[in-house]
Amino acid sequence: MSEVRSPEGRRPSAVSRKLSVRPMTMADKPAVLRISSRIWEGNDYVPLFFDHWVRGGGFWAAELRGRIVGYGKATEFAPGEWWLEGLRVDPRCRKRGIGKELSRQVLHRTLDERPVSLRLATADVNRESMHIITTVMGFKPYTQYRFFVGKPEATRPGARPVRKMGTVPRVRALRGAVPVFQSHAPLVRPAAREVLDFIQQSPELSASRGLLQYTWLFRQVSRRYLAELKKGDHVLGYRVGGRPAGLMIIRPHRYRGNDLDISFVAGSEVALGAFRSFLYQRARDCDAKNISGMAASKEMAAALKSLGLEPHPHIGRVLVYEYPIQAKVQRTKSEGQSKGEVEKDRNPSYLPFLRLA
Ligand SMILES: CC(C)(COP(=O)(O)OP(=O)(O)OC[C@H]1O[C@@H](n2cnc3c(N)ncnc32)[C@H](O)[C@@H]1OP(=O)(O)O)[C@@H](O)C(=O)NCCC(=O)NCCS
Repeated sequence: MSEVRSPEGRRPSAVSRKLSVRPMTMADKPAVLRISSRIWEGNDYVPLFFDHWVRGGGFWAAELRGRIVGYGKATEFAPGEWWLEGLRVDPRCRKRGIGKELSRQVLHRTLDERPVSLRLATADVNRESMHIITTVMGFKPYTQYRFFVGKPEATRPGARPVRKMGTVPRVRALRGAVPVFQSHAPLVRPAAREVLDFIQQSPELSASRGLLQYTWLFRQVSRRYLAELKKGDHVLGYRVGGRPAGLMIIRPHRYRGNDLDISFVAGSEVALGAFRSFLYQRARDCDAKNISGMAASKEMAAALKSLGLEPHPHIGRVLVYEYPIQAKVQRTKSEGQSKGEVEKDRNPSYLPFLRLA
């Protein structure tokens, strides 16, 4: 922690004196592709986003003697809400302190943006990364998820049919502007208010402390974010007697566009049965090979299992961390605030994730 908050007090290592961290440019692409091809057996997702990240900024390259040896990305999801990802060090240059120094520098540059929140995530199997996040960068555990995966093949023609859980209407994929749900069907595009109420009251939102996951990104629920999801036609509701009885948020997987990723699912048994049929229908329509989702609550874990997903075989927990900005801001603010204002800021209902502006 002290290393992070007062870097000037830290004795610079040999690497930190030599490492230069600068914005990534399009000209760096070949070097990045070369490094990423050696990470996770070539399954690193950084190349997929290279152009987009360079254009968007916050994509940092670490150079040692004029050669790129690592990188990291900071993204502002919504005003003040920052996210770190894509920390990589060339496998040929590891265990020399580059990852630690690069993390420190990316953190400091992101703190310069005066974030309201700053988070990142890693898997519990990535001990090295956890060490850097907690010990070097000073992040604190925020929440944790279980990772679920499934294959839609089980429902292809000739395969064993899925267990039937209620009468379900046939629906087409959630695509385009053509209305896909008949007004009388229990599967609907829910109204914004309905989505907000359903999610806010869910055990999942309280276990996730206000976050929704999307392929390893964890973003705060807000009115604006939910409106984006609704506009993208990713939100599916289930009604019984005109009242909401279930909700599912489903999107193309961020790394593999044909695959599906579930950000949220909850509802009655009949609703989950309908979502399951919809999910596999849609998986067939878009030729998905995999379906994934993460759950912070035991309720959503059970819902994902009821959709046919199973815990990931190698990753036990996905850990989300947060940099302790709030405490710092709180101290600074209270110096110039009235007692009433400070109390208001302490009230949990004013926490950013419930400020649904
Ligand atoms: C994680 C990664 C960036 C680290 O890069 P690096 O340059 O080798 O890291 P450093 O040499 O600066 O530091 C590694 C630290 O982890 C520690 N470490 C290594 N293995 C560890 C383990 N099994 N448990 C705990 N700590 C461990 C090292 O001891 C060192 O810390 P220390 O110097 O305080 O003792 C690099 O391995 C990488 O690119 N991995 C693949 C991508 C990835 O996992 N990125 C993070 C995703 S969230």
